[in-house]
Amino acid sequence: MLALLGGAVAWHTAAAQTPAAPDDALYRALGEKPGITALMNDTVERLFTDPQIGRFFKDTKPANLKEQLRDQVCFLSGGPCKYEGDTMKAVHAELGIRKADFNRMVEVLQAAMDARSIPFATQNRLLALLAPMHRDIITR
Ligand code: HEM
Repeated sequence: MLALLGGAVAWHTAAAQTPAAPDDALYRALGEKPGITALMNDTVERLFTDPQIGRFFKDTKPANLKEQLRDQVCFLSGGPCKYEGDTMKAVHAELGIRKADFNRMVEVLQAAMDARSIPFATQNRLLALLAPMHRDIITR
């Protein structure tokens, strides 16, 4: 019974993070763990110094954010990772993020992907996985 319940909870957690990729094609296109790690490290560096949205990160530890984003993108793109951070809703609830801030975040991620010469089609597949999260992240 307990094992059954554990299974149901695990399934529910994974489902809460959908839509995840149907296979690991995107994970591989992003360069697997080393590629995703480098991409998210660079993205976080750019976010922290960004003139428009850098201020949101003034109390954030970069090392932790890099780790959480790496695991999340690895998981969502079909890779062998588990995201163990909080829900997008809980993490961003008190930040007062606007649509323009969310769009800027997307631009920063695109710039980081351009810098790694990630093909446009691959960029769009990753952005398509992240886009639906705006509902939980934009609060004003
Ligand atoms: C699709 C877009 C986004 C994704 C996938 C995302 C993902 C994440 C993740 C995984 C974390 C770490 C959670 C944890 O440590 O448990 C996080 C934290 C954070 N995010 Fe986002 N985020 C997005 C958009 C944004 C935007 C647009 C902003 C602000 C402009 C933002 C600001 C922050 C801040 C400040 C934190 C750290 C909160 C803290 O230190 O407690 N995020 N985000």
